[in-house]
Amino acid sequence: MDIWHVKGGRGLEGSCNVQGSKNASLPIIAASIVTPMECRLYNLPKLYDVDAALSILRHLGCRAEQQGNEAYIDSRPLSATYIPNELMEEMRSSVIFMGALLARCGEAKLSPPGGCQLGKRPIDLHLKALRELGADIVEDEGEIICKSRALKGRDISFPFPSVGATENLMLAACAAKGRTVIHNAAREPEIIALADFLRSAGAEISGAGTDKIEISGMHARKSAVCRIIPDRIAAASLCCACAACGGDIELKVSNPSQFSTVLYFLNEAGCDIINSTHSLRVVSNGKLRAVKGISTAPYPGFPTDAQPVLMAALLKADGESEIEENIFSNRYRQVPELRRLGAEIEVEGRTALIRGVNELHGAALSATDLRGGAAMIIAALSADGESVILDDGHVRRGYEDFDLCLSSLGGDIILES
Ligand code: EPZ
Repeated sequence: MDIWHVKGGRGLEGSCNVQGSKNASLPIIAASIVTPMECRLYNLPKLYDVDAALSILRHLGCRAEQQGNEAYIDSRPLSATYIPNELMEEMRSSVIFMGALLARCGEAKLSPPGGCQLGKRPIDLHLKALRELGADIVEDEGEIICKSRALKGRDISFPFPSVGATENLMLAACAAKGRTVIHNAAREPEIIALADFLRSAGAEISGAGTDKIEISGMHARKSAVCRIIPDRIAAASLCCACAACGGDIELKVSNPSQFSTVLYFLNEAGCDIINSTHSLRVVSNGKLRAVKGISTAPYPGFPTDAQPVLMAALLKADGESEIEENIFSNRYRQVPELRRLGAEIEVEGRTALIRGVNELHGAALSATDLRGGAAMIIAALSADGESVILDDGHVRRGYEDFDLCLSSLGGDIILES
């Protein structure tokens, strides 16, 4: 159990780095088994979810060691195709190993993935796409058994640009005979990062970052090196923390365009956003204006993962802010906890109305999920008094040293593990 002790009331000042992207790291770790290879990953964040992904690799017989922000993986000795439930239920991304194992071994046996409880999180799009590629998939009492004598490339369309299903299909398609074209593919920067990694391992991939991705096979290389891209949601979270508390911070990050929709609303709320080549500066007087029209959507729309942390920044904004959550059916689980701090939030279906209050007060909270937990920390930093947030590991699934990062910016936060 992690316990976050937060004393609010201070502004944030200074500069800090931004961790490597969780949502780029996880599919790339799965991709390392598509062909027998050695690979070195740099800027790999130290996260519970990364630990879980590396544990799956070791369970499958690979070597996988992380030292600091570097990892060495050798997938040549892979010798198993079954992932037990206790490893699958650790995170959502475990489902990506299905496509990777199908590509490598032509079979996979696993159970449905875990991950944040954000409402129903089916994997029907994953299964449908892999079946269209030629996999026989049987779902039997909570187990998913996949076999494929030969995967065959073809045009496959998604009714919704699912990030995970796009990634799963990209991995399996590396071993398919002929060309696979994915229509209505997810366009997130993490998809581009995965394609770059697969290309460095010998895959022929084009179109990543657009809604049409073509994969026409793999001329396997024996090794690959990858530097994980910065985490756009971790960066957006720090910007929201500065907006909420007031202050002047600089993030050493080179990809502000990847969370420009978050920066747009922070600017609308009254923050100054100053972009330069390798850094981003956010200045806030801590008294924001309410904003409306925040509506989550697939990339390049407003990212659902930033919805809770932007909500936290708007709790004391002057007026009534409005958020619409369109990606997940239950992603307002942070709301009852934020109300304990004195926030006034009404949820009606997919819409959350936030009536700005003059002040928030410290309280005892319980983290509900990864981004909800981060939102509670941000709100507690902007509240008067002390808060304690009980967290059974949610925040550290996706944020590396969040306490140290916020402390280095002047936040009064101590993590007791
Ligand atoms: C990825 O989850 C991210 N996780 C999520 O980040 C992120 O919120 C999400 O994409 C959307 O951007 C990782 O990359 C590890 P989806 P994923 O498939 O792949 C429905 C975080 O906080 N759906 O794009 O699970 C689904 O229920 C996490 O870092 C189906 O109906 O997202 C959801 O409503 C949270 N059937 C919507 O699509 C399917 O087969 C988006 O899901 C698959 C998805």
